[in-house]
Amino acid sequence: MERRQFLKSSALAGAVLAISNTRIWATSADSRVEIFLEEPRGEISPNLYGQFTEHIGGVIYDGVWVGEQSKIRNEFGIRAELVERMKEIEVPIVRWPGGCFADSYDWKDGIGSTSERPVRTNFWEGDSDAARLHEKGPQVFEPNTFGTNEFMRFCKLVGAEPYLAANLRSLPPLFFDHWVEYCNSPAGTTTLAKMRAEAGFPEPFKVKFWGIGNESWGCGGNFAPEEYASEFRRYTSWIPSFGVGLQLIAAGPNGNDIDWTHRFFDEIFTGHSYHNPSFTGWSIHHYASNLSRGKTRDWLLGKGDALKFELVDWFELLRECDRVERIMADQWAVMGQYDPQHQIKLVVDEYGPWYREGTELDPTHIFGQQVTVRDALATALTLDAFNRNAEKVSVATCAQLVNNINALFLCHEDRFFATPNFHVFKMYAAHKGGQSLRTEFSAPDVHYDRDGRPARFWGLNGSASQKGNLVTLTAVNPDLTQPSQAQVTLRGAAIARSRGTALAASDMHAHNTFENPDAVKATPLDTSIGAGILNVSIPPASVIKLEITLG
Ligand code: AHR
Repeated sequence: MERRQFLKSSALAGAVLAISNTRIWATSADSRVEIFLEEPRGEISPNLYGQFTEHIGGVIYDGVWVGEQSKIRNEFGIRAELVERMKEIEVPIVRWPGGCFADSYDWKDGIGSTSERPVRTNFWEGDSDAARLHEKGPQVFEPNTFGTNEFMRFCKLVGAEPYLAANLRSLPPLFFDHWVEYCNSPAGTTTLAKMRAEAGFPEPFKVKFWGIGNESWGCGGNFAPEEYASEFRRYTSWIPSFGVGLQLIAAGPNGNDIDWTHRFFDEIFTGHSYHNPSFTGWSIHHYASNLSRGKTRDWLLGKGDALKFELVDWFELLRECDRVERIMADQWAVMGQYDPQHQIKLVVDEYGPWYREGTELDPTHIFGQQVTVRDALATALTLDAFNRNAEKVSVATCAQLVNNINALFLCHEDRFFATPNFHVFKMYAAHKGGQSLRTEFSAPDVHYDRDGRPARFWGLNGSASQKGNLVTLTAVNPDLTQPSQAQVTLRGAAIARSRGTALAASDMHAHNTFENPDAVKATPLDTSIGAGILNVSIPPASVIKLEITLG
């Protein structure tokens, strides 16, 4: 019954469009997309398609690391199927070891002979999700089996750039210098380079991306912004460079806390100002975690369920994820007041829907959750927002790669499958390195009932990019019942050919499982070209990609 409230007024919209622009648009279309080839917005960095891996629950142990002696197919102890699937989508960059874990981690614990590495208490041992654990395994007591060398091996196997998050809360700056030295000092030079060589890695890892703490307003030290700015100076005033162009990333605000951003940059750039050419990133985290529709601000009570949800929750989740673009715009505007040339870009290194516990595949998977088609749309609209803001964002890493919040893969022991998010990343890979193009979407809003009040959400949105004579358009249709009959035009070129792909599901709860790993996947989508217009019927509840060859 509730579904009936979700009608899109397509016929009416078509008529309005016909009146307002009879030259171009046919009355049957209820949406139109106009791509402006002569209005590039900046190159879409491949690094917007990165992933995040933290020592939480089943991410590293069970997800990435199975051990060399395991019966599970592995390369040097790393789950082979994971590596293969990551290569399929050419993951460009992986962030590690946290998250909050990073600020309790001593990298020296994770090098040298594995049998001699110390066992430490994991940062997440006290989390409410950890309370369900039957045994105190690696989720509680970190064995340090997977350390810097193993992570670098993982990156190398995948073909990804490493992005390390340094501990600012509980280790002094010299430990950070030494981590850089261990990773980057040339073969045969420093004592740490020799230790690296003894572990089988004579050549430097050449790590460019370094996070200086994580969520320093919270788990990363509970600092005031001025205090964190002062620590940031101390940690970054001198770091051995070894000719590697270091990219230093500062910990940004809690949500869209503008005050944190103003006060941090004020402290860094005014008065006794500090200019460091390697300071190039401002980290933003955006989780869609409160789905209570304003009923509570409680972190646990506000969470929704990954699988049990109503129509209103569908839109609430998409609406919450969609806020990322506002956050990027607000943060960018403040940063521009202090750094008008925008040397410092946004690094969205954690994002995704975050639900309450209960859908994890194994009790050990702290923050593990199922991933439905709803999450695929949420991930897609987030990636579209990054593409549209290509000039602002330099790196983004999805939280998190496997067995966690917004995972691309779920696995336990010898069973493994890709979630709908994997298919989104596969579809969107075509944008990497492309030129982001201004693209206008015009579609009637979707209307729905939000606790007795009328609410609306956009009816179609997306992004486009160009590489040579190929234009890629991706878009999300959030309407649960109505297809969007779209007409796509290019300003500045003719359309020669087109090919479509869609990820859609008739059930909004659809998700993949061990038993049915392909319940949600991408399939071909019909398109047609006539009178210079590309026509496509975009299915309800879908993510689509159009590959358009220019004539
Ligand atoms: O991704 C899980 C946690 O969420 C990260 O450790 C932390 O940075 C954030 O609060």
